[in-house]
Amino acid sequence: MNRIFSGIQPTGNLHLGNYLGAIRNWVRLQADYECIYCVVDLHAITMPTEPAELRANTREAAASLLAAGIDGKSNILFNQSQVPAHAELAWIFNCIARLGWLNRMTQFKEKSGKHKDNASVGLYVYPTLMAADILLYKATHVPVGEDQRQHLELMRDIAQSFNSAYGVEFFPITEPLIMGEATRVMSLRDGSNKMSKSDASDYSRINLTDSPDEIAKKIRKARTDPEPLPGEVKGLEGRPEADNLVGIFASLADISRADVCTRFGGATFSAFKDELAALAIDTLSPITAEMRRLMDDPGYVDGILSDGAKRAEQMALPILAEIKEIVGFLQR
Ligand code: AMP
Ligand code: TRP
Repeated sequence: MNRIFSGIQPTGNLHLGNYLGAIRNWVRLQADYECIYCVVDLHAITMPTEPAELRANTREAAASLLAAGIDGKSNILFNQSQVPAHAELAWIFNCIARLGWLNRMTQFKEKSGKHKDNASVGLYVYPTLMAADILLYKATHVPVGEDQRQHLELMRDIAQSFNSAYGVEFFPITEPLIMGEATRVMSLRDGSNKMSKSDASDYSRINLTDSPDEIAKKIRKARTDPEPLPGEVKGLEGRPEADNLVGIFASLADISRADVCTRFGGATFSAFKDELAALAIDTLSPITAEMRRLMDDPGYVDGILSDGAKRAEQMALPILAEIKEIVGFLQR
């Protein structure tokens, strides 16, 4: 059986990178897999969070997933904290994972910054909770952007290490799915930085809540180099900003970078940007409109999440009970 699990943090400012790197793939995978999608609020509190903002961002993330085409009825959409089994399994995995493995995690190094002693313990064990999210459902595939690859490798190490520590073949060796031409969308201001929710400059990203005018303006102002577009993909080497915009176009149009170069080779960036903006607006506007409509109906969104949580828990509890049996816990 094939089962998908993936998660997104409710930290606000969902952007084009989240959409092209993750959400759009999640929507498409629904045709072929049983899918479980999770708004990971337990992960969100690994960094300081305002309660009211967390609540609003959780609803907003759920609304954008629904607006993008996640089907919360035939699949599962829920927020993590409503299924306590995630935190329980994370504890067991905290006792499987080694300090040395966590010390290698680049996301912890980036997020904890210069003052590691002030980072929360939760931020440090973030990857063990992520492993628990996935393995609690014995998911076989996890669609994510490129930045999550290292965490998924750690998840596989945890699964293997649990299996061998207890002499069982219990957890599957889950595969990452890193798909498409936009697995790592970069900032529009700096081609060497990832497009990110936390970038101080709003011009660095296209938010899923941006109006058509804002989208057009941000693309027009996006940093580029003075050369025209190359006729071949090789010509994008050493041109991170050009490569990023070409990658975004390719992904939005569902074609390859090579096709984009064939079509626009020799064109100026200003001509290319007009077409890119039109394409981005065409894709995002209907999602933004639906998201706004859903955000005005929090009762509906909350209902989807709690119904999803109940169904997720029904799947998780028998698996957690087997895990507890393997570990040797006495159960009710
Ligand atoms: P996060 O916002 O960190 O919870 O990420 C949610 C999903 O979006 C994950 O699968 C990430 O890998 C993906 N993602 C985040 N930022 C980007 C980006 N700049 N480019 C591509 N995928 C991204
Ligand atoms: N760490 C992921 C991110 O920041 C979010 C996440 C949490 C996740 N649990 C997961 C992704 C399980 C995939 C599977 O993007």
